[in-house]
Parts: sequence; C-alpha cells; structure tokens
Amino acid sequence: MSGPVIVLVGPMGVGKSTVGQLLAERLGTGYRDTDDDIVAAQGRTIAEIFLDEGEPAFRALEKDAVRDALAAHTGVLALGGGAVLDPDTRALLKDRSVAYLSMDVEEAVKRTGLNAARPLLAVNPRKQWRELMDARRHLYEEVATVVVATDGRTPEDVTRAVLDAL
Ligand code: S3P
Repeated sequence: MSGPVIVLVGPMGVGKSTVGQLLAERLGTGYRDTDDDIVAAQGRTIAEIFLDEGEPAFRALEKDAVRDALAAHTGVLALGGGAVLDPDTRALLKDRSVAYLSMDVEEAVKRTGLNAARPLLAVNPRKQWRELMDARRHLYEEVATVVVATDGRTPEDVTRAVLDAL
C-alpha cells in the first residue's frame, strides 16, 4: 500500500511533531502534520476554528485532512491527538504502520500545563487529561502497530525506538 512510511498518533504534547521531524530526517523523507494542513488551508489557528465553529466542525476538517494526507504523502505523517476519535479515520489506518506515542497523565500535565493554544485543556488540566486518556487510550491502541512509551525519555530515544520497531 502506498502512503506514509509511518503514521504517528498519540495525545497532544506527547512529541509527535518533534519525533516526527527527527524520524523524517533519519529516514531521508518528508514530514507532514494534519494540524498544519488544516491551519494552512483555513488560514486560522486550531484554537480559532474551535472557538468560531466548535469541535464537530474541526473534526470534519480533520477527517478530510487525514484522508488527503494518507493518500498523498509518502513520508512521516503525524495526526492531531483527536483524529482517532473518528471511526472512518481509524478504518483508513488499518494495514498501515502506525506508532502510538504514549505518556501517562502526570507526564501529560507536566509537559503541557495550561496551554491556551490547546483548547481542550483550558480548565482543570489534570482532570481533563485523565478523562481524555480514559476515552482515547483504547482507540490509539486499536490503530497502533507499535506502542512507544515516552515518559521520561528524550525525543532522540523515542525516535530510535520507533525506528527499531519499523
Ligand atoms: C487535539 C489535538 C491537537 C489539535 C486539536 C485537538 C485533540 O493536535 O488537533 O487541538 O483533540 O487531542 P496535537 O495532538 O498535534 O496537539
């Protein structure tokens, strides 16, 4: 199947873009991120899209962005943290190499803190992280061909682990 050599999934702040760019460098290929595709196409930030139109509208844009990127991109592809919520997106990931970069809730709180650019964490980040991880963990696991825990590890170390698993 043509398409990305590897797709990265996992929660926001886990390091998908940093690891994705390192992976692309090591593999001598391109890097693409569906969040960047949406921002470029819309001329608005993700926070603005959420505020203007709400999460369902963002998810619809995201679903199209993922489908387009899977069809057109042959390098490393990182998906937004919530892309796996969509059953059609999960179906598109079937039979592809997908690395789930995981982290535990405390690591997530530590890494992201209060981040206005991430609208899902605007209030009470620890509680929201717990709910988010509980709701999504099994979806990441469902699509993943490899799970790499990132807690306490450097992006270089995580990149090496993904490459070893490819
Ligand atoms: C989201 C994750 C973000 C972005 C949006 C929603 C989520 O992407 O798509 O803010 O639902 O987890 P990153 O995982 O790239 O931060």
